[in-house]
Amino acid sequence: MLAFGPLELKSNLFLSPLAGYTNLPFRLTIRELGGLDLATTDLVNARSLIERNPKALKLIETNAQDKPLAVQLFGNIPEEMRDAALYLQDLGVASIDINMGCPVKKVCRVGGGSAMMMELDQTAKLVKGMVDALKIPVSAKMRLGWDNNNITAPDLARALEDVGIAAIFVHGRTRQQGFDGKVSLAGIRAVAQAVSTVPVIGNGDVTSSEAAKLMIDETGCSGISIGRGAFYNPWIFKNTQTFLTEGRLVPEPNFEERIRVMCRHLDLMIEVFGEFKACLMFRKVAPWYSKRFGPAKPFNRKIVHIQSKDEFDRLLAEFLNWRQAFLDDQGQLLERYQPSAMTPDFAEEPEVFRREHIPVPKGPVEVW
Ligand SMILES: Cc1cc2nc3c(=O)[nH]c(=O)nc-3n(C[C@H](O)[C@H](O)[C@H](O)COP(=O)(O)O)c2cc1C
Repeated sequence: MLAFGPLELKSNLFLSPLAGYTNLPFRLTIRELGGLDLATTDLVNARSLIERNPKALKLIETNAQDKPLAVQLFGNIPEEMRDAALYLQDLGVASIDINMGCPVKKVCRVGGGSAMMMELDQTAKLVKGMVDALKIPVSAKMRLGWDNNNITAPDLARALEDVGIAAIFVHGRTRQQGFDGKVSLAGIRAVAQAVSTVPVIGNGDVTSSEAAKLMIDETGCSGISIGRGAFYNPWIFKNTQTFLTEGRLVPEPNFEERIRVMCRHLDLMIEVFGEFKACLMFRKVAPWYSKRFGPAKPFNRKIVHIQSKDEFDRLLAEFLNWRQAFLDDQGQLLERYQPSAMTPDFAEEPEVFRREHIPVPKGPVEVW
């Protein structure tokens, strides 16, 4: 199986960091469904961690079920990055990921995120300082480069391999592209070919088991990291693992399973964030589940106002009742109301990567 340095992993599928979403409850929801081993936190500012800023500490909140866990750090001051990583190692974190792909101005202006892809020597030095100080593995998450004229990922990957990086995650777009266009499999392949032993994990636009397999076949990457695809399909890890190991395509989960997992997700959010905050946060989570419910207008309209678990339960009961009108004698959704018939966006799961199929969700960093 795949290993990041000394860390042996049970799956070559990874959850991509998604600021505002990849919190403890979301990670636990996916872990319970299976197929995922190493998951990553949202990006955390190294300095804020050193200062024990409460918001930063909340971002790294974890528990015994949330293992193995990587924390993603951003920053460009070598000592700060090293000290934040040492602190995380003491806390029992399994590996450290360095953000080298964030295109957001706030991060790049101070030389972090994608800006690190323009300063290869400096970046390699920073990584070396961390690798030398730590026992746990260090990985890097990058884009292909700053823009089409600066495709630096292969050179950077090689430079980082030389200083002991344990794995490279690469999102197959440039910084300039944002989320436009398609992921470049050729770009990811060039990174996979640039290194000799370090695993390269491909990332970008994977929303189905077939797309994951295609990325592996076309690029020679060792694993796949999935971000937005996990929002509306937290089952994607388990199903893709089955597809990759047994060649069997698993049917999509049925409605009851979707409802069960959505409720579990909310319960976990309440445990971690408290009822009120969890309900506010769930307003942007529930619509991802409901995209595959079939007719769900009243649910979608009201869910964005919930303030309590009671309200959620009431709303769900009303919705289930309302939905009866769309069911056949066997309790199945009538053909013409099936989600695929209603939302052409999700109708044909992409064999290849079709950007329009995965919207960029609204979040604190909308321009990722
Ligand atoms: C809302 C949002 C937040 C993101 N936050 C992070 C982050 O904190 N760190 C990071 O390295 N990438 C972040 N990304 C980029 C994703 O990890 C991933 O590279 C990108 O979405 C492409 O993969 P996907 O198509 O599977 O989502 C974010 C993306 C989105 C849409």
